[in-house]
Amino acid sequence: VSRPRRLIAGNWKMNGTGEALREIEAMAAAAGDLACDLVLCPPSTLVERAARLVRGTSLRIGAQDCHAQPAGAFTGDISAEMLVEAGASHVIVGHSERRMAYAEASALVAAKTRAAYRAGLVAIICVGETEAERDAGRALGVVAEQLAGSLPDDATAQNTAIAYEPVWAIGTGRVPAEEQIAEIHAAMRQGLLARFSTAGAEMRLLYGGSVKAGNAASIFAVPHVDGALVGGASLKAEDFLGIARAA
Ligand code: G3P
Repeated sequence: VSRPRRLIAGNWKMNGTGEALREIEAMAAAAGDLACDLVLCPPSTLVERAARLVRGTSLRIGAQDCHAQPAGAFTGDISAEMLVEAGASHVIVGHSERRMAYAEASALVAAKTRAAYRAGLVAIICVGETEAERDAGRALGVVAEQLAGSLPDDATAQNTAIAYEPVWAIGTGRVPAEEQIAEIHAAMRQGLLARFSTAGAEMRLLYGGSVKAGNAASIFAVPHVDGALVGGASLKAEDFLGIARAA
């Protein structure tokens, strides 16, 4: 089967104020010449301005989380519908930083993903084991369990991308061996194929964790790696575009 275009997504986490919009402007200016799809997820405060800035370009803007409900008494939260109104087309759900700091279990991640679908957002669903889980030989099991629990039955290759982010590789500069990425991605593909058949074959599987321009090409060469979810190296246009050009 021919593979879909690679997807390179940037996650700014809680970084970036108004002056960082010039990085997004530079990304947008270059996005049209890339062979991959490019999405940038700034903090919520910048989503609307960023979306306005990229209008007419092929750079897409995403958010980093959403609430499962469309509206209501949920102080501090933002709904998927609100993100759409602000101009977002994608949303990251189930990032390990939220699974850990806010005890988000896969059932909640699935509910947020359903909210994303309801509003018309593409969900980038994150999974990944901790170092302790890997050391205990549980990496495959943890990822399979998170995948099974976080994906709604109506996930498709169009409304969903999966990001495998081993927690121990996030922000550490420690990238797994290619065989380790290959093993997890192949297992994820098997699981998705079994559950979603064709959609599971086409769903894009991203790798995330210390991706840089210098290691991107070798990561993209691993079977079943259809892109990347990039943290630190997505803050500057030059770094992020360097990764996108390797895709
Ligand atoms: O969501 C992306 C992220 O967790 C990876 O971060 O800084 O290791 O690229 P980083």
